[in-house]
Amino acid sequence: MVFICNGGTCAKGGADENTLALRAHLTKHGMDDEIHTVRTKCMGQCTSGPIIFIHPEGAWYGGVNPEIARDIATQHLLQNTLLKPQLCFPEPDALVLQPVTFSAAKAE
Ligand code: FES
Repeated sequence: MVFICNGGTCAKGGADENTLALRAHLTKHGMDDEIHTVRTKCMGQCTSGPIIFIHPEGAWYGGVNPEIARDIATQHLLQNTLLKPQLCFPEPDALVLQPVTFSAAKAE
């Protein structure tokens, strides 16, 4: 599940464009039925915003723009690989991504 902060600070930084870019990318890859996205209010990480939080891994991505949002969709969600430069919490070595099995092989 993807939580996309659309609180005031993140909104000023382009959260709506990030939301649209990430969702469009998931749709393009036929994954919008597999990966749920949620717009949230402030998640308390404004100084690192715009923020995207991935559950259940607990990955907090900061400084997100539409290109990075698409990279999160492609690399983290579809290819199960961290975007280390954008990861603001926790340290990359503290995260263990679980392989995701989708109902169809759409991650190519
Ligand atoms: S507005 Fe996004 S973390 Fe505060």
